[in-house]
Amino acid sequence: MIDFEDFVRVSPHCISLDEGLPFDVFAIVEGSRVPVLYAAKGTTANPIDSSDPSSTSNLFIRVHDVENYQSFVQSLLLDGNRVHRLPGIQRASIVAEAARFTMYSSFRTNNTTSIVQATRTLGAHISELMEDVDVKLAELQGLLHHDYGTFTHSTNVALYATLLAKKLDTTTVSNEDIAIGGLLHDLGKLSIDNRILNKPSKLDDREFRIIKKHPLEGFRRLTIESGVTKSQLLMAYQHHEKVDGSGYPVGLCDQEISMPARICAVVDVYEALTSNRPYRRALGPNIAMEIMEKQSAEHFDRNILDCWKSIVLEETPTDQLCHAN
Ligand SMILES: [Fe+2]
Repeated sequence: MIDFEDFVRVSPHCISLDEGLPFDVFAIVEGSRVPVLYAAKGTTANPIDSSDPSSTSNLFIRVHDVENYQSFVQSLLLDGNRVHRLPGIQRASIVAEAARFTMYSSFRTNNTTSIVQATRTLGAHISELMEDVDVKLAELQGLLHHDYGTFTHSTNVALYATLLAKKLDTTTVSNEDIAIGGLLHDLGKLSIDNRILNKPSKLDDREFRIIKKHPLEGFRRLTIESGVTKSQLLMAYQHHEKVDGSGYPVGLCDQEISMPARICAVVDVYEALTSNRPYRRALGPNIAMEIMEKQSAEHFDRNILDCWKSIVLEETPTDQLCHAN
């Protein structure tokens, strides 16, 4: 979450609104090695050219303003009349930013009940966004953060999984269920030692055995919570199962793996490949897709992988909507 000492990166879509900001905003400008003051608290930030990637990834707030920023973004989101009038991409950015910061603070509590509660509201916003707005994956990826952190990864997986479910036109599971399941899928990592999760080099056998426990840990935490649906539970428990039976924790095959978990498996790997890791930079969408196709196609549900590929490559599938069961 912290990009420079004391600074956290924020979305320009959320701060370039025409109102006084309740916090200082900083930017990296030419010649500066650390963020410098861009818009002071109480003033209005200049409109930002959101099509210019160099201007959209370089805005920051101070760490001590994280809660302020989170409340500010939440209040934007709750102002339904206003948020519905915004351009789709700006609305998507507000939803994504609210999700990322809420996931960040709720994961820090390590309290499953409060995390589950937070994901309910976020899941509703994500599915409503996807139903109302025709969001393109490239635009979505452009506004998301791609740092290495369970809360960022879970936010991105939730958005991608909902986009994929919408395209699959699933009738057995709601998009809201998929969004919440995506937010919760890696919850079990809260039970894993951070030194293993954040290890910058290859895991040894013992560490890998420990990390492989997170689906079961997630299941254990969620199964005693009220209001968690079967789809959400199985996304946490089965998202590392592979259709050829080589996955974990059980080694299920094909349709023994629930459909929401098969959706989650595809976008989980895609998100990991297209995000920065301590040992490598994020890969581009086409390269990520090529790797999934060449190295692990047999791990995934073929129809679901093809549908995701059509979203990544912005192709129109012959049947307009893909199908999965
Ligand atoms: Fe996982």
